[in-house]
Amino acid sequence: MAQSTRKVPLTEVLRVDPTRPDPEIIARAAGCLRDGGLVAFPTETVYGLGAHARDPDAIRRLFEAKGRPAHDPLIVHVASLEQVEQVAAAVPEMARALAARFWPGPLTLVLPRGDAVPREVTAGLETVGVRVPSHPVARALLEAARLPIAAPSANLFSRPSPTCAAHVLHDLEGRIDMVLDGGPTTVGVESTVIDLTGDVPTVLRPGAVSLEQLQDVVPTAAAAGPGAFGPSAGRKEGAAPSPGLLPLHYAPRTPLVLYRGRANAVRDAILDEARDALARGERVGILATAEDAQALRPLPVVIAELGPEHDVERVAARLYAALRDLDGSGVDVILVRDFSRERGLGRALRDRLERAASAIRVV
Ligand code: TXA
Ligand code: MG
Repeated sequence: MAQSTRKVPLTEVLRVDPTRPDPEIIARAAGCLRDGGLVAFPTETVYGLGAHARDPDAIRRLFEAKGRPAHDPLIVHVASLEQVEQVAAAVPEMARALAARFWPGPLTLVLPRGDAVPREVTAGLETVGVRVPSHPVARALLEAARLPIAAPSANLFSRPSPTCAAHVLHDLEGRIDMVLDGGPTTVGVESTVIDLTGDVPTVLRPGAVSLEQLQDVVPTAAAAGPGAFGPSAGRKEGAAPSPGLLPLHYAPRTPLVLYRGRANAVRDAILDEARDALARGERVGILATAEDAQALRPLPVVIAELGPEHDVERVAARLYAALRDLDGSGVDVILVRDFSRERGLGRALRDRLERAASAIRVV
């Protein structure tokens, strides 16, 4: 126990070229992981906080550094499909087909847990989430460490995932050993998690790979039923199929109100609410598409702009940074028009907005 409360006085920040990382820096980070240390590194989705997946002490320290409850399982990152066999008890044909299409990349497969994976990693579950990331820094680290690396997003529990090294340091400086700073991540939302251990392949967390893309390979793939994710998920202990999918999982500290309804009615409602709040002397933040931001300019509010509404990739890449910006700007409330769609990457955006919201208002 004494070991698991070990203090890490200083967090070392090492810059790396995101496309061709310096092997010496990677070797240092790999050594740190092999010694049981905690290393944050960029993946194509968000920054991960890595620990040696077969070292239960390192895993305990990882949970502690994040303030993450022990019932929330970690994703194990590996270098290749061959390595999956070291962490999963079985690799079904469907997993191989999905891996062939989407790996390396932002898809996590939930498979039967292999004996080599300590229960601390899987939060006691008999399944394990595995993925092969595509980011050159993550790949170089996995190859140099020659270990499976357990890595949740490198944020404090329930805060928005980090999309750059500054976000990681904001949450975890002094609590982890090292950050590999490879600049901003490109995708900006987390991997899609699909459970292949049940009768129906089920998406537990919508993410960077869309349901439609998955169904191209596995036509029977389905989204988890209503309530499996979204604000009501996980309210009852053990009720959620993916134990990490708790409400307010990606939330800023500032109350966030998500508005739904016809776009123009919602725009009007947000304007009304912003004016009322300003009249009460409150500071107002608005998370807005480029088009909405334009219309809001005359108001004395803090606007975090996401990009053009049609450019879903760009919006996704900006989302968490924009939430953190607003959170840090000292506003009393954040207002958001739900601009997401029920298809493609839009599903992931909808899910993250719902989770970030402390209230949803239908107008
Ligand atoms: O893009 C990502 O997935 C990032 C990067 C760092 O790889 N990682 C990430 O990890 O988002 P984390 O721990 O923040 O989210 C992992 C999600 C949680 O919702 C967790 O419940 C789910 O994956 N998960 C992990 N193992 C699982 C399992 N065996 N069964 C069901 N869900 C699982
Ligand atoms: Mg996370």
